[in-house]
Amino acid sequence: MNAVQPRLRLEGRPAKTLRRGAEVMIECCDNLPFMRALPDASMKLIVTSPPYNLGKEYEQRRSKEQYLEQQKSVIKEAVRLLHPEGSICWQVGNFVENGEIEPLDIILYPVFKDEKLQLRNRIIWTYGHGLHCQNRFSGRYETILWFTKTDDYTFNLDAVRIPSKYPQKKYFKGPRKGEFSGNPLGKNPADVWDIPNVKANHVEKTEHPCQFPVGLVERLVLSLTNKGDAVLDPYLGVGSSAIAALKHDRSAYGCDIHQRYIDIAQERVASLQSGTLRLRPMNRPVYEPPPRDTQ
Ligand SMILES: C[S@@+](CC[C@H](N)C(=O)[O-])C[C@H]1O[C@@H](n2cnc3c(N)ncnc32)[C@H](O)[C@@H]1O
Repeated sequence: MNAVQPRLRLEGRPAKTLRRGAEVMIECCDNLPFMRALPDASMKLIVTSPPYNLGKEYEQRRSKEQYLEQQKSVIKEAVRLLHPEGSICWQVGNFVENGEIEPLDIILYPVFKDEKLQLRNRIIWTYGHGLHCQNRFSGRYETILWFTKTDDYTFNLDAVRIPSKYPQKKYFKGPRKGEFSGNPLGKNPADVWDIPNVKANHVEKTEHPCQFPVGLVERLVLSLTNKGDAVLDPYLGVGSSAIAALKHDRSAYGCDIHQRYIDIAQERVASLQSGTLRLRPMNRPVYEPPPRDTQ
């Protein structure tokens, strides 16, 4: 299958070509003009985490209606950019007001359906650390809505299999009795992913308050794209999606409105290229501390 290579130019400047022909274009600008400069159907994967309208340091809190309108514009543009065999992964948590939570995936799902996309998984990303709530259970998951444009979408399951729990298990009856019953490449990682979020002592931590762990995006890049395909993150932050794409010889496109985050993203790409970027290995099991001796 042909790789998707958009050969993007922004204001006359071409994307930079890295090893093995992968391209990178990371810009400090608003995502709508950035996306409008890209050709139709040029992106195999659009993976992102938009602001949640919580008034974090990188966003201005606005009315719910304005937030939704802005998300609709970006999603519409993402659908235009999506290759027919491509995927959109929108990673979101909750909007919170006066102690009441509103899951953003519930609010945004109809927007994607209006664009005629098909939901393939609602992935639960669970992690161990976060705020300790006093008046409700502490939140320890967010979701990734994975949509495709058609039924003919790229899905490389073997690239993201994880070790089976019982690799020695065998069929105990029938014509294959005595043979190993599991896939020798491992099992499907399923739709609940336990991956540590990037907090203070995570090796990937930068000054961004809400960055993706690269391993989370790597799983999406490897399963939903092929080498040479193009990956876009329209809310790039410090470039975690670009790192995941470039690490696996995909092209990376992205933008963020904050120059400081773009500077860090560029530095991270340079460190990846020189082999000095520290990353948590994609499938490293979550550390379980030994039970504390209370005697
Ligand atoms: C949740 S963070 C994404 C972090 C990213 N996943 C990472 O790993 O660094 C959302 C980002 O969107 C950026 N942003 C907000 N509005 C934007 C816009 N209109 N265009 C581009 N970026 C925007 C913010 O500066 C912020 O870095």
